[in-house]
Amino acid sequence: MRLAMTKLIALLAGDGIGPEVTGEARRVLDALALDLAFEEAEVGGAAYRAHGHPLPPETVALAQRADAVLFGAVGDPAFDALDRALRPEQAILGLRKALSTFANLRPARGFPGLEEASTLKPEIARAIDLVIVRELNGDVYFGDKGRRTTDAGLREGHDLMRYDEAEVRRIAHVGFRTARTRSGRLCSVDKANVLETSQLWRDVVIEVAADYADVELTHMYVDNAAMQLVRNPAAFDTIVTGNLFGDILSDQASMCVGSIGMLPSASLDADGKGLYEPIHGSAPDIAGQGKANPCAAILSAAMMLRHSLGEAAAADRIEAAVATAIRGGMRTPDLGGTATTRAMGDAVLAAL
Ligand code: NAD
Ligand code: IPM
Ligand code: MN
Repeated sequence: MRLAMTKLIALLAGDGIGPEVTGEARRVLDALALDLAFEEAEVGGAAYRAHGHPLPPETVALAQRADAVLFGAVGDPAFDALDRALRPEQAILGLRKALSTFANLRPARGFPGLEEASTLKPEIARAIDLVIVRELNGDVYFGDKGRRTTDAGLREGHDLMRYDEAEVRRIAHVGFRTARTRSGRLCSVDKANVLETSQLWRDVVIEVAADYADVELTHMYVDNAAMQLVRNPAAFDTIVTGNLFGDILSDQASMCVGSIGMLPSASLDADGKGLYEPIHGSAPDIAGQGKANPCAAILSAAMMLRHSLGEAAAADRIEAAVATAIRGGMRTPDLGGTATTRAMGDAVLAAL
C-alpha cells in the first residue's frame, strides 16, 4: 500500500527503444530518492502482442489513476499493415484523448558543447532557446478520415482538418501564458493563406491576445516557419501551433539543437496532470542495440517532476546533470560518438 504522499507514476515503456530510454530515466528518478511509486503497463505493439490491442483498458485505467505518466515510444513495423485502430500509434493518440492532454510543450534549447552535433553552424545552434506549444487533441489527427473508391474507380483517402474556436482558445491561452514566463514573445504558426481551419485559428488567437497586453504576438505561415527555424532559430521564443504543424516543426527543431534524442515533451491537461515522453519514436532501426540516446526520456522525467509533481528543484538537478554529461563529452551515436545508452545514463547519474 502506498502512503498518501507517495506519487504514483505510470511507466509505459512501449516499443523499440522505448524500454531502453525509459529504463535510464527510471534510474535517474530512483537516484533522487523521491517518494515515487512506479507501476508498469504494456502499450503499443507490445500490448498488441500480449493482449490483442495497443491500448488495453488496464493501461488506460492505470494512466488515469496515476499522478503522472512517463511514456517511452510506440511503433513497430511488424504492425504497420494492421487496421489503423489496432496499430501501435493508436495507443499514444488514444492516451492523449483519454487523458485530455491537449497542450504539448516541446522545449528546444542549445546545450553548451553540443553545437557540433547540429547540422547548423555552431553559433546558430548554440543560441536556440524556444518552446513549441503544440495542440494535441484535435486537427487533422482526429477529424473524420476514410477511404473510398471514386466514381471514376480511383482509390481516394481523406482526413478532415478541423478545430472549433474553444479548442483554439484553450491552447492559445497556454501559448500566451508560456510566453509570459519566458521572453514575452509568442509566434502563432498557421497556414491561414490557404486553410480555413488556420484562418479561424488566427482569428481566435488574435481575440485571446486581448487578455495578454504584455505579450508580443506575431503570426507566421508554417512554410516560412520551417525555413526560419533553420535560418535563425534564435529569433523564436514561444511558438503556438496546431497538432500537425507542431509535430513536424518539433522534429526539425530537435536537429537544429543536435539530435532528436535530446528533446523531451510534456502533454498537459487543464489541471496540469500530464503525460511525459521524448518527442522521438521507437527508432526500430537502432532498437535493442544500446545505441539510443536516453537524454530526451531523462529530460521528460525532469519535466514530469516540474509540471505534475511539484519537484522543481529535482527537475533542475536532472537538467543540470544532463548538461554536465554533454559538456563532459558523453556522446551516443546520434551525437557523433560511440557511447551506449547505459553509459549516457551513467554519466547523468554521476553528474547528479
Ligand atoms: P523515430 O523518431 O523513431 O526515428 C527517426 C530517426 O531518429 C531514426 O533514424 C532513429 O534511429 C533516430 N532516433 C530516434 N530517437 C533516437 C534516440 N533517442 N537516440 C538516437 N537516435 C534516435 O521516427 P520514425 O523512424 O519515423 O518512426 C519509427 C516508429 O516510431 C514509427 O512506428 C512511428 O509511428 C513511431 N513514432 C512514435 C512516436 C511516439 O511514440 N510518440 C513518435 C514518433 C514516431
Ligand atoms: C509524436 C509522434 C506521434 C504524433 C505519432 C506516433 C502518433 O510523431 O509524438 O511526435 O504524430 O503525434
Ligand atoms: Mn512526431
